[in-house]
Amino acid sequence: MAAFPNLVEKRILLIISGGIAAYKALELIRLLKQSGATVRAVLTKGGSEFVTALSVGALTEDKVYTDLWSLTDEADMGHIRLSREADLIVVAPATADILAKMAAGLADDLASTVLLASDKSILVAPAMNVRMWEHPATAANIATLASRGVKQVGPAPGAMACGEFGMGRLAEPTEILAAISAAFTPANLPLRGRRVLVTSGPTQEPIDPVRFISNRSSGKQGLAIATAFSSLGAETIFVTGPTAEAIPPGLSVVRVETAQEMLDACHGALPVDVAVCAAAVTDWRPIEAAPRKLKKQAGEAAPSLRLTQTPDILADLSRGPRRPGLVIGFALETEDLLANARAKLIAKGCDWIVANEATQGDSVFGSVYNNVTLVKATGAERWPKASKREVGERLAATVAEYLSGFLPSEPRTAMVR
Ligand code: C5P
Repeated sequence: MAAFPNLVEKRILLIISGGIAAYKALELIRLLKQSGATVRAVLTKGGSEFVTALSVGALTEDKVYTDLWSLTDEADMGHIRLSREADLIVVAPATADILAKMAAGLADDLASTVLLASDKSILVAPAMNVRMWEHPATAANIATLASRGVKQVGPAPGAMACGEFGMGRLAEPTEILAAISAAFTPANLPLRGRRVLVTSGPTQEPIDPVRFISNRSSGKQGLAIATAFSSLGAETIFVTGPTAEAIPPGLSVVRVETAQEMLDACHGALPVDVAVCAAAVTDWRPIEAAPRKLKKQAGEAAPSLRLTQTPDILADLSRGPRRPGLVIGFALETEDLLANARAKLIAKGCDWIVANEATQGDSVFGSVYNNVTLVKATGAERWPKASKREVGERLAATVAEYLSGFLPSEPRTAMVR
């Protein structure tokens, strides 16, 4: 299957209108979910003649919205929120009727009301009888919608359910999926041609074959960063310690366990334009890992572990002979965030530090949210609390802007070789 990493965590509002092709919307939901998107569905009255809310809801794993006049639907969600909480609205299949309503600005059911009340991007996948498709009214409606920026996928030519042959078949679900991905792809990918290395997750330092020293890093933030870089067109090498996160296709993944393996994988990825060290590398490792499982003997003293420091990957990359043009580190601080992040910038020799303040009761590990300040040699920028996905997207966009020379070039005092 084609790889669409930019669909991870995208919120799709799928409007299924009435047409024999509505059954294909079920496959589309499955493909979207497989790509990491969340799908919320609105089923028109016509749509529910062809597929049931039960099957749609089973696939979206969410409530299916059908009725503008349902007090429970409105109390539960409200048609304005339905559109506000979506990144893209997809109408598939889009009948001649719903296209006409959209063009005319009618709002007499939930689907048309959501479409009229929305300022979100809209993609339509028309499906209808060939004569309806070729009718000047439909052609005029399609032209009106295109002039308003509504995107379109299909229809395709072929045999119709009504026995006729011609234009009007719904595009295949895989084609609709590709069009949805394209709707999220900026026309000009700013990081195309750039190589980016992202380290992520914890490392595990073995004590014996079954035990290790590690930390609570989930790898969520590193994965969000790598996905964001990849979405902007960068060739992204994702060096990750053990993580339970599902890694979307599109990244060049190198799985490692120890800090030394992570360092070796990073060296193997060089040269790169940008390195983002988001991994929570375990600071110490046992000097020697026991070749066999250490046995507990009743009455015997516990073994003592002799530890040594693991290699500092961020400092190594920052000071190495093949230093990436931009090196970004992370810092988790419990106090004096700015002072400590600045000190780290200099100590490690990197260019930027993304600093998290780990306040009490607001653990960053495993959470989907992050609270960060971007610290550069020239100053610091506090970002609003956002999901790790948004932090990743903002970081990738900031790097793209920096590399494009859009921002005035900064003195890179931290670039000690
Ligand atoms: O020294 P500290 O662990 O606080 O620094 C955090 C930053 O350094 C992170 O970007 C982390 O990925 C990186 N780091 C590293 N190798 C280590 C320790 C930390 O790359 N051994």
